[in-house]
Amino acid sequence: MSDKLIQIETPFVFNGENQREFDALIGRYPVKEAAMLPTLHLAQRQVGYITPAVMKYVAEQLEVSVMKVKDVVTFYPMFFEEPVGEYVIRVCHTLPCALRDCKGVLDHLKAKLDTDVASETNLAKGTTPDGKFTLMKVECLASCDVAPVIMVNGDLHKNLTSEKVDEILNDLSEK
Ligand code: FES
Repeated sequence: MSDKLIQIETPFVFNGENQREFDALIGRYPVKEAAMLPTLHLAQRQVGYITPAVMKYVAEQLEVSVMKVKDVVTFYPMFFEEPVGEYVIRVCHTLPCALRDCKGVLDHLKAKLDTDVASETNLAKGTTPDGKFTLMKVECLASCDVAPVIMVNGDLHKNLTSEKVDEILNDLSEK
């Protein structure tokens, strides 16, 4: 008998609240496929990242192929295919932010969180052991006039200094 473990992923379904939200949003689009991004956002909000079971479920709901869902998930950096922290901290490192010391902000975050920066292929590398934070570098967040900036989940924080970073982390740690 093989001693290999066979892992069977639990099927995914929307919980009651997300099912209601999905039912409401799907009616706003002329074709189901057009609701791909908000549907994936709902699913990611429910489980934290996009598993193969989520892709299969979303494909069924939107009547498209799993491969089409996979293409979208792979294309957009806001979707994750492996676990991330409760708070994903995106640090812009494009030129206008670089000129206003985003490196200092990033180094401060690395020191405070005692973690490295996640890479596309290794999100765990930038995730704190308690699963609270994931630290990432990203391209322009379209707020260059208030550089340097970070985005924590969906919230933008601008004109950052080390002191402001400390305040943000303290607030999040207390939640
Ligand atoms: S370069 Fe950082 S927000 Fe545009």
